[in-house]
Order: sequence, then structure tokens, then C-alpha cells
Amino acid sequence: MSAAADFVVVANRLPVDRGDDDADPWRRSPGGLVTALEPVVRSTGGAWVGWAGQPGLEIEPFEFDGVHLVPVALSAEDIAQYYEGFSNDTIWPLYHDVIAAPTYHRTWWEAYVRVNRRFAEAAAAAAGDGATVWVHDYQLQLVPRMLRELRPDLVIGYFHHIPFPAYGIFSQLPWRTQVLDGLLGADVIGFQRVADAGNFARAVRRRFGYETRAGSIRVPTDGGHRTAVAKAYPISIDTASYEELARRPEIQARAAEIREELGNPGAVLLGVDRLDYTKGIRHRLKAVGELFDEERLGAGDATLVQVASPSRERVAAYMQLRDEIELAVGRINGDHDTMGFTAVRYLHHSYPREEMVALYLAADVMLVTALRDGMNLVAKEYVASRVDGGGVLVLSEFAGAADELTQAVRVNPHDIEGLKDAVMTAIEMPAEERRRRMRALRRRVRDNDVAAWSARFLGDLRAVREGRA
Ligand code: G6P
Repeated sequence: MSAAADFVVVANRLPVDRGDDDADPWRRSPGGLVTALEPVVRSTGGAWVGWAGQPGLEIEPFEFDGVHLVPVALSAEDIAQYYEGFSNDTIWPLYHDVIAAPTYHRTWWEAYVRVNRRFAEAAAAAAGDGATVWVHDYQLQLVPRMLRELRPDLVIGYFHHIPFPAYGIFSQLPWRTQVLDGLLGADVIGFQRVADAGNFARAVRRRFGYETRAGSIRVPTDGGHRTAVAKAYPISIDTASYEELARRPEIQARAAEIREELGNPGAVLLGVDRLDYTKGIRHRLKAVGELFDEERLGAGDATLVQVASPSRERVAAYMQLRDEIELAVGRINGDHDTMGFTAVRYLHHSYPREEMVALYLAADVMLVTALRDGMNLVAKEYVASRVDGGGVLVLSEFAGAADELTQAVRVNPHDIEGLKDAVMTAIEMPAEERRRRMRALRRRVRDNDVAAWSARFLGDLRAVREGRA
């Protein structure tokens, strides 16, 4: 089966994490992408090509839970240069509108090319004749072109999970031509927002002069041209599984217990993010801190629970951010805590999905204040979990989710006064308005769940295949 899969997913990470138990080392990783794609991969007898998340692990392909996994080995140097370097210290800050300064190193670029080739070769070896290959995200932008050259028979999709910036920013990249050419190797190039797809099409026009029209790009080939689709396919979550968890009595009891443990404050505010400078955690803390300073909130009125899961901890910008956040939390709590009350409960951990759903149910107000975010699935998870119809979502207009979740309280997180007002509006929102907004939000997250998302994308890939036949 391995050398002849009809459907192959290629992503930086495998859908499993390696634990400590050598006899039973693999655990399914909890991410939404895994939930979305694993059933498709399993039902097609497909394969998943990715990195196992640790340095130097040379593992032969293996079966896990009905899926054929093809590990790509990364050395410590590859991790430093391709993953922490080019992916997360060049492309990540550049594509998030240079919130942090991108670093351009030629050695990192060389590692990115080298590792992308390794992924492309592994995918080419796993894919059967005329197979469909779906490549994911910014770590692998060169794979579509490399794969097309290795295997012109394949149908190739690429989905970009993060923003694609405006040309004035993108054009800083010393390797902008190669990256665009890499992406144009795909038949369907998917983005989160209409604006991202537009930015990509504009970059293609500016660099290559290709004709682009309503989501299709005329790409010249040796003998003529082909059409690449470049459109928005907003990603979502496995809505039903969040609803199911939120209905469980033990999770509802846990939600009540969380409120109790926090001392039953007037309002529980919640932030849930990877500890990343794109998420606007500092802005959120500043706003909440000032509300206490100015006595718009007093002890017992509100507690902010901030879950910040550890991420990319060897990249300097992430280390610095952690220090800044922890300093800010310490200051706010030092100024405003009492023996029985804490203003900010800061948790530098990740939690299982059950605990997250309990937290969502416990939170009166969810604060998603990203400075820039491809989509932000936390916003959708919160909405899906509110089976009780309660809760208020405060959502940054710079998160991709804002295009769909129009009934949220919208904020510009750079505007600290506006952010403070939005937090107060959310806390004080009349029950009727709260329910009306949540009803509309829930409808949207139910209609566009992750299965609908992957079906739309794969449907467009199928149309490419049929067009070729
Ligand atoms: C974002 C990216 C993903 C990435 C995830 C976690 O959501 O779009 O590609 O996997 O962050 O980051 P990590 O660097 O730990 O894989």
C-alpha cells in the first residue's frame, strides 16, 4: 500500500506525537487538522508524510490507527535552520505583517530548500499513479513545484494556514520569486481569507505578469499553459465533537468547579493562545490591567484566565515575549490581587480538549485579540462549545475568523481604549443580545465545519483531475 497511495497529505508535522513509553510511543495529536484529514486519509488507504517533532529520529514508515505514516527525519541543524530559522523566524513574522522583524539568512534558505526537497521526495515515493497530494502550510511552500517536477502525473493541492501578506511586505523576501514559483506548482492553492488569495494573485501578477481572474491563474508550461486555482477556503473545527463534550455532565460540572476555584468572580474573561507575538496577549493584558487601574473593574468583578501554551521556545522573539508577558502579569497581580482574588490567572501549559471545553463553558467573555491571525480556531471552539447559548466573543478584526464571525464584538487590538470599552461592553451585555449574537455565531460554525472545509477543497481538486481525464 505504501508505494501506491491514492491520497497523500504532506505537512510539517505527522498527526502523532512521540511520548516517553518506548513500547507504545505514539499518541494521536489533538489538532483540528488531524481530525479533519485523518478520516479522509484512512478511508482512501492514504499516507501522511511529516516530521515526528524530535531531532534525528530515523524511523521507517509505519501504520498507526489505519493510516500509513511516512516520517521525514530532521537533524538538529535542520530544525535550527529550516524550522526555527526560515519557517518561524523568517516566513512567520514576514507573513504576519512584520509584527516582529523577520531575519533573512542565506543558510536558512538553503536549509529550507534542502528540507522541502526531502518532503517532496518522500511524497513522490508514497504516491501512486495519478494520486492526489495535499501539501500544508508555510513550512513547505516549495514542495508543490518540486513534486510536480518529480511526478507530473499527480494532482497537487496546497493549503496556506497563515496569512499571505500584501505585496509591499511580501516583496521584502529575498527569495520571493522562488517561493511564488514553488506555490504555483499546485493545481489548487487555498487560503484562509479572500484577502489572502487576492494578495497572492497580486504578487503573481507583479512578479510574473501572469493573467489572474476570479480565482484562477494562467500558468505557462512548456507546451502552453495550465490553470491554477487560488481561492479562499476558510478552515474550521470539528464542531460536533466540541458540542458533544460541552453537553457532558462531568464537563459542565468541571466548568462550575473552575468558577468556584477562581472565587466566583463577577465575570470570567478567557484568553487561550499559543504563546506567540501574533496573538496580541500583551495588548489584552494592558487593557485588562488598565481597567483595574482605573477602577472600572474592582477586586472580585472579573478575573482574566490566560492560557498560554508553550511554543517555539528556542526562537529569540518567543523567549522575549514570554518574559514580557510574565512581567506584565506579575505587575497587574501585584497591584490588584487580594488574598482571595487574583486579577490574572496565567497558565503556561497546554490542556486536553476536555479541560478546554470546561474553560470555554466557564468563561463569560472570550478574548481573541490577535494582531494578525490566519484564522484563529479558538474563536470557533468557544462558539461551538457554548451549547448553553451563553458567552460573548470579543474578536480582533485582524483574525481570519472575523470575516465569518460577524456577530462577535469586533476590536482593533492596537486601540487599547477601544479594547477596554469592548471588554466592558461584553461584560455588561444584556442577556437577550448575548443570546442573539451567540445563536448567529453558532449557526455559522455549524454550517462551515472542518468536514465542509476539506470537502470544498478536495472537490476543487477532483474537478482538476476530471478536467485532465
Ligand atoms: C500554526 C501553523 C501550523 C503549526 C502550528 C503550531 O497554526 O499554521 O502549521 O503547526 O501553528 O506550531 P508548531 O511550530 O508547533 O508546529
